[in-house]
Amino acid sequence: GAAELGPYRHYMQKEIFEQPRAVGDTLQAIESITPELFGDGAYKVFKNIDNLLILACGTSYYAGLTARYWIESIAKIPVNVEIASEYRYRDSVPNPRTLVVTISQSGETADTLAALKHARGLGMENTLTICNVATSAMVRECKLSYITRAGVEIGVASTKAFTTQLTALFLLTLALAQANGRLSDEEEAEQLKALRHLPVAIGAVLALEPQIMAWADRFATKENALFLGRGMHYPIALEGALKLKEISYIHAEAYPAGELKHGPLALVTEHMPVVTIAPRDGLLEKLKSNMQEVHARGGELYVFADADTKIGSSDGIHVIRMPEHYGKLSPILHTIPLQLLAYHTACARGTDVDKPRNLAKSVTVE
Ligand code: G6P
Repeated sequence: GAAELGPYRHYMQKEIFEQPRAVGDTLQAIESITPELFGDGAYKVFKNIDNLLILACGTSYYAGLTARYWIESIAKIPVNVEIASEYRYRDSVPNPRTLVVTISQSGETADTLAALKHARGLGMENTLTICNVATSAMVRECKLSYITRAGVEIGVASTKAFTTQLTALFLLTLALAQANGRLSDEEEAEQLKALRHLPVAIGAVLALEPQIMAWADRFATKENALFLGRGMHYPIALEGALKLKEISYIHAEAYPAGELKHGPLALVTEHMPVVTIAPRDGLLEKLKSNMQEVHARGGELYVFADADTKIGSSDGIHVIRMPEHYGKLSPILHTIPLQLLAYHTACARGTDVDKPRNLAKSVTVE
């Protein structure tokens, strides 16, 4: 009811603003990284695997895609990420030394549960879930687990569940790295420090809400939008586009920016807003030339740029300044403004934000 909402207009907005607390709770009071955070016997499993197979649906799938960048870069273990409803029905080549990881807010998604059973049926017994509901079927079915502490999520469009999944997946990355001798004590201390600072860093990004509301008013009149990201921010672009579709009903697509010239550039006109995630990472110069390709064709760029990127506003280029680049955890911070953009655009269009048409919070039937 209204009392629970406090100062917020919708549960989605409330849940977006709960993220500093949700991420902080998910980190609990972790003092050091150890595989046993994921359950008894995790060390032995993590040490003896050849690769990971991540299975999920919807927003949880995008968390898995992000984790692939982290795990391959930090733990150096190969990762496949697959949509659960595809995996369960295709012929695949199993490896008993695979760690099967499911990601699910509810822990009850039918396709993800079925994909897990399918993997087990193929002889893959090492299973781990990142899940928000401790009493769910998913947690019961998996050998290892990590429970995210998002709390109950009411808005159908997932927000705090996603950023807490990313937080847990980063912990998993560090634990896998450690079990395989790829995490020095120094690096462990550094990453833990960055993780502990996340709630404050997220709070600083939430303070951008007024600027994002001004953009949302302009988005509300559009019927299409393109989202660009590169590297580990490409899955974040996918999640940003999904949020906008789900609740504002604006058709949105995400592309890795380097792929623009292979198709979507044909769609760019002055009527196509192009939301760009611009972290200050090794791909920044490449991204800037992708932005130039859009600008030259009259496309309107809406850029979330890290403070140290030197991307300035000009005609057709709108910039909202993010904090300094946040290293490997940057995807978590860049998620927040995209949630707010989708939320305020939907509000401006007057849609039923917490209960978008045709969608369900938890899809427990196929
Ligand atoms: C539904 C929800 C999404 C969610 C997806 C997977 O489609 O509307 O927000 O990402 O299911 O749900 P899960 O509970 O498995 O994460």
